[in-house]
Amino acid sequence: MKVSVIGAGNVGATCANVLAERDFLKEVVLLDIKEGTAEGKSLDMWQTAPINYYSTKTLGVTNNYEATAGSDVVVITSGLPRKPGMSRDDLISINAGIVKSVTENVMKYSPNAIIIVVSNPLDVMTYCAFLAAKVDSKKVFGMAGVLDTARYRAFLATELNVSPKDIQAVLMGGHGDTMVPLPRYTTVAGIPVTELISKEKLDPIIERTKVGGGEIVNLLGTSAWYAPGAAAAQMAEAVLKDEQRIFPVAAWLQGEYGMKDIYLGVPVKLGRNGIEQIIELPLNEEEMNLLKGSADAVRSVCSVLDNMKLF
Ligand code: NAI
Ligand code: 2OP
Repeated sequence: MKVSVIGAGNVGATCANVLAERDFLKEVVLLDIKEGTAEGKSLDMWQTAPINYYSTKTLGVTNNYEATAGSDVVVITSGLPRKPGMSRDDLISINAGIVKSVTENVMKYSPNAIIIVVSNPLDVMTYCAFLAAKVDSKKVFGMAGVLDTARYRAFLATELNVSPKDIQAVLMGGHGDTMVPLPRYTTVAGIPVTELISKEKLDPIIERTKVGGGEIVNLLGTSAWYAPGAAAAQMAEAVLKDEQRIFPVAAWLQGEYGMKDIYLGVPVKLGRNGIEQIIELPLNEEEMNLLKGSADAVRSVCSVLDNMKLF
């Protein structure tokens, strides 16, 4: 099995490295436009193989899409990251052109690939890749919820002094400050989180999760990469191993949750066909209103893309 990761920057290289270390692929190809970047990073990774005991080959190329031919999964991370003071939405004018051309090139050489989009603004870039790929929406989806729930679960693990392994959570909506963490669907080893933590302590964790990306941008001067790279790798693995795992994923909605023609974070089952099923959770009025608010925010950024007339 083969995965190509487009964009050999912080997130792309981390994703490729995690996938290589998982040791279930024949090859991971890293592609970037910056001469030498993908080649250098993949060579460095390959030199960890004897230390970390894996056999997955890592290959780096500069803008050579032929090397990505026959990929089973393509992860798109190419594009600018946020700098302090920028929102994810500020990136649209540059990243839309990049994601469109990258997707078109990818499809030429891997027409059957499942595409996982990471570039920001996530929900709208996933829509952009979907328009460019012209394939079934089950095969084009975005990574955000796995990262956002990981942040939420990590904060809860610290607060409750438990293993993050035991925390399960669902988070819905767009990848932005309007995302909707769902305490009603958060458990710790099967125990509803609301039995273990007061509302006064849980609310600040939810608020911190919503701005979790910005917290790291302010600390580092650029956006996060370890957790985003690992999150995209986990989704690729679930697809390639046909795991039928349930993750929050930016998926194309066609009536689910009463919404149509929008990419939005919802729980889905991932397997070899990509999105095998969109799971419709019962939401109460407050949760539904938050989800609608998040969808409105995503739609307003989608209209910026539509007005760019790229398609
Ligand atoms: P980075 O700047 O480290 O890497 C981006 C790479 O894309 C650079 O190496 C650049 O040369 C390359 N690139 C630019 N145009 C290209 C093209 N046309 N073809 C191939 N490669 C091209 O940025 P980083 O931190 O890796 O972030 C990448 C993207 O992922 C950003 O848009 C960022 O906002 C987004 N992101 C999304 C997350 C999510 O949860 N969905 C989380 C973290 C980052
Ligand atoms: C993150 O959430 C900025 O989307 C990026 O880290």
